Amino acid sequence: MSHPVLLTRRLPAPVLQRLRDSVDLELNPHDRPLHREELLAGIRGKKGLLCLLTDRIDAEVMDAAPELKVISNYAVGYNNIDLRAARERQIWVTNTPGVLTEATAELAMGLLLAVARRLGEGDQLVRSGQWRGWEPLQLLGKEIHGSTLGIVGMGRIGKALARRAAAFGMNIQYWNRTRLPGDIEVEKTWRYRSLPMLLASSDVLSLHLAYSAETHHLINAEALRIMPAGSILINTARGALIDEAALVEALQRGHLGGAGLDVYEDEPRVHPGLRDFPNVLLLPHLGSATQQTREAMGHLAVENLLAGINGVEPTHIV
Ligand code: DGY
Repeated sequence: MSHPVLLTRRLPAPVLQRLRDSVDLELNPHDRPLHREELLAGIRGKKGLLCLLTDRIDAEVMDAAPELKVISNYAVGYNNIDLRAARERQIWVTNTPGVLTEATAELAMGLLLAVARRLGEGDQLVRSGQWRGWEPLQLLGKEIHGSTLGIVGMGRIGKALARRAAAFGMNIQYWNRTRLPGDIEVEKTWRYRSLPMLLASSDVLSLHLAYSAETHHLINAEALRIMPAGSILINTARGALIDEAALVEALQRGHLGGAGLDVYEDEPRVHPGLRDFPNVLLLPHLGSATQQTREAMGHLAVENLLAGINGVEPTHIV
């Protein structure tokens, strides 16, 4: 039986080979996301779609492929897919949880350290040729040992960050929709806080929750006002969890000590105001960008896809 599949972007070589060996593959030939018309043309006649967070998969795309059985997203987040439209059309939607936990937590930890200890500014200073040598008052940062990390969203990635930050001597507190069992909180010394309390009492706040209509602009002007003066905001989850205009305003007022951002409201566009601040580190959505993780994501996405096109319920349905 033929298994026509559209892959919207080139993936790591072993993953691509596996796909070529198992399905009739149409691959985006360009080194860029497919344009809308290309996506609509490419999906025609396909049973499976392996897509990225940069592809908007809505009812129109699904209707262009009446045979479509599965949409396998090469990401843990899936806010790029209209889930209701997929449900109505009985199309499985899958994601890649678990395999990118450690890589994303590593990046969050890296941003946290880099912003607190002003690594970006230090690098700029040395590169500019303006560095005059060691100075007692040069680029003094915030010591993270002994300071408090507030984690918003204590799922896999939140917990992986908590373990890392604890090893650096940080106190860990969190807010999650569902509170963790008491024995875990005690064993790990992770303290549960209401969201307003977490905002008000964290030296560093890091976001690790899914984006949805309910979490849109969770960190808005009001939330930013509650955060302590000089505190640091880290986001490796989804850009629209933060109201970027409000963040720029909070930075302009000098209220925040800095921010480390890997994701943005309207990628690849970055709010121009964010570029103005030396205490803001901006990364190009690198959370899962390690060789091992991107390969593991690919294999998981392929497994989800193959199950779906063969009529078997995939393991990672969202
Ligand atoms: C995801 O998987 O949702 C990340 O943002 C990219 O790997």
